[in-house]
Amino acid sequence: MDKSYPLQTRNLNLYYRKFHALKDVTMSVEAKTITAIIGPSGCGKSTLVRCFNRMNDTILGARVEGQILVEGRDIYAPDTDLTQLRKTAGMVFQHPTPFPLSIFDNVTYGPRVHGESRPEELSGIVEQSLQSVHLWDELKDRLHEPALDLSPEQQQRLCIARLAAVRPRIILMDEPCSALDPIATSHIEELMEELVRDYTILIVTHNMAQAARVSRNTAFMLLGELVEYGETARIFQAPKDNRTKEYISGRYG
Ligand SMILES: Nc1ncnc2c1ncn2[C@@H]1O[C@H](COP(=O)(O)OP(=O)(O)O)[C@@H](O)[C@H]1O
Ligand SMILES: [Mg+2]
Repeated sequence: MDKSYPLQTRNLNLYYRKFHALKDVTMSVEAKTITAIIGPSGCGKSTLVRCFNRMNDTILGARVEGQILVEGRDIYAPDTDLTQLRKTAGMVFQHPTPFPLSIFDNVTYGPRVHGESRPEELSGIVEQSLQSVHLWDELKDRLHEPALDLSPEQQQRLCIARLAAVRPRIILMDEPCSALDPIATSHIEELMEELVRDYTILIVTHNMAQAARVSRNTAFMLLGELVEYGETARIFQAPKDNRTKEYISGRYG
């Protein structure tokens, strides 16, 4: 069977005013795999993941050239439904970002925005979404407590549950473990390994060991350029580009 590629860019260039932040990036992300984007700080990793649900649109002076395809559709086509796009491709951020609402209201936020108001449906969604991130047993008796009272790991799981509640097919993660301790990090990595059965996951990480542990494919970026992209094991064991080799061996950070 042919592989499918729910996220693709073709000759993608992105400018923040005059600053050329993404340089001719062409890449295809395989379905239902974990793909990591690595590279030193400032190389454009966040900018690239933000492209896929048009999060850069809100940045004044940001301009995109080239094509970005999500599930084969050009997301800058005039008939693009942005709400639908962000439902298809949801984002998890560096710092957990629960809303200052109850656990229940966090998870039901998306479904409500999309028009679901039946109490039984909403309760079912909360149970299912929290189950999928292994928070249900812990939190089922505390659903009406403030989400901001949870631990950082629980908050990050809750943010993933909040996404799951709107049934995305793609999860974009921008350094989702950088605010977590090593144990919480390994828990989130285990969760990602489960989620990838159902979702396509694109994760930015500055942690090379994390990329090596969790991802099937790795993209190495430098100064806005996609330097090398391929199977993670190959990228780490036999990089083709000298710049990748130097980065992997820790020559620059
Ligand atoms: N909103 C912005 N306005 C102007 N420049 C930006 C903006 N966001 C990021 N940049 C610049 O674009 C480059 C890439 O940033 P970013 O995508 O955040 O890199 P990374 O995630 O790899 O650290 C950096 O040089 C950064 O300073
Ligand atoms: Mg970043």
